[in-house]
Amino acid sequence: MDFLGYTIVALLTMLKIMNCYGSGWTDAHATFYGGSDASGTMGGACGYGNLYSQGYGTNTAALSTALFNDGLSCGACYEIQCQSDEGWCLPGSIVITATNFCPPNYALANNAGGWCNPPLQHFDLAQPVFQRIAQYKAGIVPVQYRRVSCNKSGGIRFTINGHSYFNLVLITNVGGAGDVVALSIKGSNSNWQAMSRNWGQNWQSNSYLNGQALSFKVTTSDGCSIISNNVAPPNWSFGQTYSGTQF
Ligand SMILES: *[C@@H]1O[C@H](CO)[C@@H](O)[C@H](O)[C@H]1NC(C)=O
Ligand SMILES: *[C@@H]1O[C@H](CO)[C@@H](O)[C@H](O)[C@H]1NC(C)=O
Repeated sequence: MDFLGYTIVALLTMLKIMNCYGSGWTDAHATFYGGSDASGTMGGACGYGNLYSQGYGTNTAALSTALFNDGLSCGACYEIQCQSDEGWCLPGSIVITATNFCPPNYALANNAGGWCNPPLQHFDLAQPVFQRIAQYKAGIVPVQYRRVSCNKSGGIRFTINGHSYFNLVLITNVGGAGDVVALSIKGSNSNWQAMSRNWGQNWQSNSYLNGQALSFKVTTSDGCSIISNNVAPPNWSFGQTYSGTQF
């Protein structure tokens, strides 16, 4: 390889590092929603449903358009610390998982309620986790954030919804980068096939997979992939959740 070749490889490596999370802090703002018990944070645009039973608890946030990436950021984990000079901050940092979308409100100015309008980077935190970095009275605080690896206990979970010829697989509890960018499915009598993202982290296959053991290949935004072989037995049924391997 010539010098140019090495330079290109070096540049690509640098770009990959720059794409990786953990490369520094970025300024943003944070508010809170969902009530003191976080009940209003359940459901949400990532499709995770009940955040308690899915293991996310109250360490969650709704992301503004600039961060949500049309749902591809669902499952990503962020470390956030408050950095207000006005005495609103509490020491330390929190780690949250993106579970919802904070929609723009174009009727409000970006600095007066339209916090989630593009191009603002904004975290609407579940109230309990907001109150770990700032006082409730603050309402909104400047923060710094950085992507961090997601620590999840147990395997990646696959919840199979839909019906025959329309399998809708919700993927939750993803460790590592946490944000799934590709999902493939394989029935024991069929080949690997890419699934398409339907909404949030619900992925779709129109194949007939009833009666076959199911395997999944999960790829996250950092390019890492992991295969869970025969996660669901041949007698799997719709509405059930099956646990696979973990990053
Ligand atoms: C995740 O777990 C590792 C190993 O236990 C730990 O070093 C790291 O700080 C944890 N990260 C977060 C964001 O909690
Ligand atoms: C599925 O098959 C396994 C192994 O044959 C069996 O233990 C299990 O009870 C079956 N589950 C259902 C829901 O039928």
